Amino acid sequence: MSDLYAGLTALALLGAGLWAWRHWHYPSFWYIVGFPIIAISVRASWRRVALGCGLTKKRQRWWFTTVPGLVASTGIVKVKRRFQRVAVDTKPFMWLPLPTRHGWCVTLHTLEGQTPGDYAEAAERLAHSWGVHAVRVSSPRPGRVVLAATMRDPLVRVDQLPPSPELLKVTVGRLETGKPWIIDFRTVPHWINAGATQSGKSNLANALIVGLAPQPVALVGFDLKGGVEFTPYAPRLSALATSRTESLTLLEDLVALMIDRMGLCRQASARNIWQLPPAIRPVPVVVLIDELAELYLMADKSEKDDIAKASTALLRVAQLGRAFGIYLFCCGQRIGSDLGPGVTALRAQCSGRICHRVNDPETATMTLGDLDPAALVSARAIAAETPGVAIVAGQDGQWYRARSFYVTEHTAEQAAHAHAHLAPAWDEITAHLPKPVNA
Ligand SMILES: Nc1ncnc2c1ncn2[C@@H]1O[C@H](COP(=O)(O)OP(=O)(O)O)[C@@H](O)[C@H]1O
Ligand SMILES: [Mg+2]
Repeated sequence: MSDLYAGLTALALLGAGLWAWRHWHYPSFWYIVGFPIIAISVRASWRRVALGCGLTKKRQRWWFTTVPGLVASTGIVKVKRRFQRVAVDTKPFMWLPLPTRHGWCVTLHTLEGQTPGDYAEAAERLAHSWGVHAVRVSSPRPGRVVLAATMRDPLVRVDQLPPSPELLKVTVGRLETGKPWIIDFRTVPHWINAGATQSGKSNLANALIVGLAPQPVALVGFDLKGGVEFTPYAPRLSALATSRTESLTLLEDLVALMIDRMGLCRQASARNIWQLPPAIRPVPVVVLIDELAELYLMADKSEKDDIAKASTALLRVAQLGRAFGIYLFCCGQRIGSDLGPGVTALRAQCSGRICHRVNDPETATMTLGDLDPAALVSARAIAAETPGVAIVAGQDGQWYRARSFYVTEHTAEQAAHAHAHLAPAWDEITAHLPKPVNA
């Protein structure tokens, strides 16, 4: 009897120990205990899971089978073993699963006739079969697919904004894979940031401001909602437009600046400002636009010309800005063709896409374009309780679910004040530009 008690006590202690380990240091618990158990069960259940998720193929195999033979005189059917061809379900070959920070990943060999798309289609079924939060499919080379499973949603809690020391490169949040979410204007110059109200658009703009404020870049703001969003950051902004007339002037300045830089590059036979010697390299300009629709919205007919001019100027900046160090970050609830003819062309120039929670499927389609349909499904599934979660498509042609770090207006304002001395004056930047004729 006492043996039983001792055994039970030992078990309880072991359980409590494991629980405490898991609680206090989850990463080591995961690598040493959690992952091996899961890896074994994933391998052991793979035939059943593949069969259930429709990832197997019928193949003809030679196999020992039992076939009914003669009926014996006793009435019992005698079975015989025979070697014959039968159809068997074959599963895709699976390598050993490897642990990742938030789950595990495993490489499979596709069966004949299968594409990575077949696996992407089965991803949700696989996630449910394995009891994991999500399964993402990628294909590193033909004939191989990698399934990456995340155990729990890693985006429920994200931590503090880290410093961003590299020029024009800001870590704004975390990807679902556990990797940092980086907005790098030098690889992807122009961005669209769409989402419903309260979805986290401004939070992301705040994160950019905090990240870029200590860097040697000029920040320019367009805030046509009366300047309520960006005015607190004015100390670090080189220019801020809060009305239609101001934005038109500022956009014309930007175009003139671009043309000036074009001349500079031509003289030095450089393709872009980064090929210029650092001594004469002009300062990069990041343009933040808070509500893009406001730029295009017409209150009355008299504004039509101004809007057309602004739209053309913005489009020129988008088309040519990259080489001359002018980068766009356009936020908006809807960035659709219904705003005006220039918007579709502008969107085509913005290769960086961020889609926060949206109210209608069209906005997601509009923002993410013809990305993988699974990305659209994922975008529509973003919950209102998790503002800052977005679908991101950028440099590598892949899409990711990500969440921005929480950056309050207060934090951004503090950063703007702390680095106010780094803001190049707009007059200085535009000093040697030819003045517009009508000025
Ligand atoms: N990444 C995030 N993490 C936590 N909370 C966030 C995050 N992003 C936004 N929020 C919360 O959601 C609210 C709305 O965000 P905001 O950026 O103002 O949305 P939008 O500009 O799209 O209307 C903010 O007040 C903030 O508290
Ligand atoms: Mg906002």
